[in-house]
Amino acid sequence: MAKLTVKDLNVRGKRVLMRVDFNVPMEEKGGQMVINDDTRIRETLPTLELLINQGAKTILMAHLGRPKGQRDPSLSLRPVAKKLADLLGRPVVFADDCVGEKAEKTAEVLQPGDVLLLENVRYYNEDEANDPVFSEKLARFADIFINDAFGAAHRAHASTEGVARAISKRGGLCAAGLLMERELKFLGDELEKPAKPFVVILGGAKVSDKIKVIDRLIEKADALLIGGAMAYTFKLALGFKVGQSLVEADKTDVAKAALEKARARGVQLLLPTDNIVVTPVKTDKLNKKGKPIIEFTSPRPLSEPNIPDSEEGVDIGPSTSKTYADVIRGAKTILWNGPMGIFEDPRFAEGTFAVARAVAEATEKNGAKSIIGGGDSVKALNNSGLGKQVTFMSTGGGASLEFLEGKVLPGVAALADNG
Ligand code: 3PG
Repeated sequence: MAKLTVKDLNVRGKRVLMRVDFNVPMEEKGGQMVINDDTRIRETLPTLELLINQGAKTILMAHLGRPKGQRDPSLSLRPVAKKLADLLGRPVVFADDCVGEKAEKTAEVLQPGDVLLLENVRYYNEDEANDPVFSEKLARFADIFINDAFGAAHRAHASTEGVARAISKRGGLCAAGLLMERELKFLGDELEKPAKPFVVILGGAKVSDKIKVIDRLIEKADALLIGGAMAYTFKLALGFKVGQSLVEADKTDVAKAALEKARARGVQLLLPTDNIVVTPVKTDKLNKKGKPIIEFTSPRPLSEPNIPDSEEGVDIGPSTSKTYADVIRGAKTILWNGPMGIFEDPRFAEGTFAVARAVAEATEKNGAKSIIGGGDSVKALNNSGLGKQVTFMSTGGGASLEFLEGKVLPGVAALADNG
């Protein structure tokens, strides 16, 4: 059943506690933490503007990184408050704690239309532990709870789930924000009965990460296009040589089952017929995790499906890109999750960018609904400069995957039904 949304509520003069996903990538530059991508912050602006215009007293809570109960200063939300104030064009008050008397006092003096951001909820272990006492402490801030943090809705934490239960227990309303509503619409309702042909593009490193999604989507899709390192597990399952390519050798049975299910249902499941390959060379430099850095040397297109022992596949090849693009251009609904290769390296980005161009073209010329399922595919689409030319880009990573698997997300389940 559809959830109650912020549009259904009268928030004037009320204290509205809103969970947002401000878990944004940051980097230290000149002694300061700088936000590298503010998409998740921007995406909450419609809900925030609605609350401000309707005279709510808005108290925002969020997590940043995984500080595991420590006050790690590099994971403070203070720079996010500043960024949010810039984007809103109005002040955002920042409280350097998310519970306790001082934060509560700061919230008490808010006026209608004011916005307060609380410090990182994960400075307390109680958040991830979904501690009921901690949830009650968070609930003290609010008359109403709004969840606009789709990206964190797969977590049953105090700030996503426990707080909603605490507030509803005392008769307070818990509703979805506008971003949450859009995420549920595009990743949920729109894919329930997708306009046909429905083309699903899946990439990324591991079959094991996507197997439940594959299994579920084979039941709806007309075509499934596989890229990324997970394609090599499928190729291995079919008896091809994959050389040094990243594979999950213990997951070939899972790949075989998916191939069989697709065949039985008459779903086109396409695998790369050519690849960009490299010769990986171990250097004596170490990465942050202390592992040797591998250099990718001698990149070349390989039109032969078997990859020689000394080489590694790092992108789909030009012929596969063309085949995939042709299928995509004919689609009426597209779901894309996971890049086709190591797109962060411009030498191996062409397969992913070719898919991005075809998705944008199908959206524009064929009137297709294109839905991008979060994480790396969103980054890839933005890198290709085509981010604005698709129907919807999810702000969720793990959350979109779990939702596409058909799981009930605890942060959503805790909200009131509409009707
Ligand atoms: C994300 O970035 O996927 C969400 O913010 C959830 O973060 P988490 O995986 O640390 O819970």
